[in-house]
This record gives sequence, structure tokens and C-alpha cells, in this order.
Amino acid sequence: MQAVASMNGALRRLPPGAVYLLGLLPLAWVVWLVVSGGIGVDPVKAIEHRLGKIGLWFLVGGLTITPLRRFAGINLIRYRRAIGLLAFLYIVLHLTAWIWLDMGLLWGQALADLYKRPYLLFGITALAMLLPLALTSNNASVRRLGRNWRRLHWLVYPAVLLGVVHYLMQMKVISTEGWLWLAAVLALLGVRFRLFGPRS
Ligand code: HEM
Repeated sequence: MQAVASMNGALRRLPPGAVYLLGLLPLAWVVWLVVSGGIGVDPVKAIEHRLGKIGLWFLVGGLTITPLRRFAGINLIRYRRAIGLLAFLYIVLHLTAWIWLDMGLLWGQALADLYKRPYLLFGITALAMLLPLALTSNNASVRRLGRNWRRLHWLVYPAVLLGVVHYLMQMKVISTEGWLWLAAVLALLGVRFRLFGPRS
């Protein structure tokens, strides 16, 4: 297919470093909303929510890379590390917004909040799973861990699932958007594990 070939050709000219820079644009946008006063009436909630949502976009975006290559021939594999690390960055910032802006760095209050809102535990577990992936997302770790690197990086699948469950649980009533996110993640996991979708 000509269109896919020229897209892959264009992508080859985009260095992964540029993806890191592009991936920081949503952060710049959130900072801009804060400094320009456009973030809304509840800035803490808005910052927390926006960072969580951006993190989710990157996490789920990372899951689309394999099916895009397998079924559409679009090759984004060399950006996978950048997309994964950007997801991790935004989730860490999301956690930081909660602990710092929301909880005011009061650890006792944070613990009480965890008890009161169990969906936070789902988020923390997801982040805890992403941590070893972020720490081993470098060439030296890939070499050192060998086959175990792939095994370790399977953690991304339960992490994304827990992340999306955390997102749904924090809603009072699950919105259509929430169900669509869950459906998208389940579909991507289904395709990834070849439960359905074209065989190749
Ligand atoms: C993979 C991990 C995570 C993902 C994908 C994620 C994603 C999200 C998303 C998408 C939202 C809602 C945003 C919106 O409605 O626009 C949210 C809300 C929230 N998340 Fe997370 N999150 C994760 C981990 C965490 C962690 C580690 C914490 C802190 C312990 C946390 C604390 C919160 C809080 C406090 C809210 C707002 C709840 C409210 O307004 O009542 N999240 N998260």
C-alpha cells in the first residue's frame, strides 16, 4: 500500500527525540492553562484530572503500536519507549498533583484518602507496575535482562487495565466515555493476545 509506505517513510525521518518533545506539549498546555488562569474554578482537580487523562492516552496509545504494525503495516515500534516513558511521566505527575496539591503533602491525610477511596489503590498498583518498566527502559537493561526483559514488560498489560479500572471507579456514574475507554483497552488486549481479530 502506497499510503502506508509513504507514512512509514515519513516516520523514519522523525527521530524518537522529537517524540519526547512532542509528548511534552500536553504538559506545556496544562502549565499554560494554569498561568493564564484558564484552568477552571477548581484548578487542583483540573490539573489532577488532565494529567491522569493524558497519562491514560499515552498508556493506551502504547498498546496500539503492535496492532497498528500487525494489521495496518504502520511502524511506530521505535517510538514505543518514548511513548511508554511519557505515559509514566504523566502518571507520576498525576500522583504528584494528588499528593502535593490535593493532600498538601500531609501523609496521614493521604493514607486516610487511600482508605476512603479504594480506586486510588488501583492507580497506585498500576503505577507500581509501571515503575520497573520505566527503570529498565534503556539499552543496558535490555542487554542485561535478555529474555527476562520481555517477560518483565508484560506488566504493561495489567497496568493499563488497572489504570482504566481506576479511572472508571473514580466516577460517580460511569460515563459513556468511561465505557468506551474500557472497551478500547479490552479490545486492544484481546487483539494483543489473539483472542480475536485477524490472524496473521
Ligand atoms: C496507570 C495509573 C493511572 C492512570 C492511568 C490514572 C488515570 C486517571 C484518570 C484518567 C482520571 C480521571 C481524569 C478525568 O476524569 O478527566 C484519574 C483520576 C484520579 N486519579 Fe488517577 N490514574 C493513575 C494512577 C493514579 C495514582 C497513582 C493516583 C494517586 C494515588 C491517582 C489519583 C487520582 C485522583 C485523586 C483522581 C481524581 C479523583 C476525583 O476527582 O475524585 N491516580 N486518574
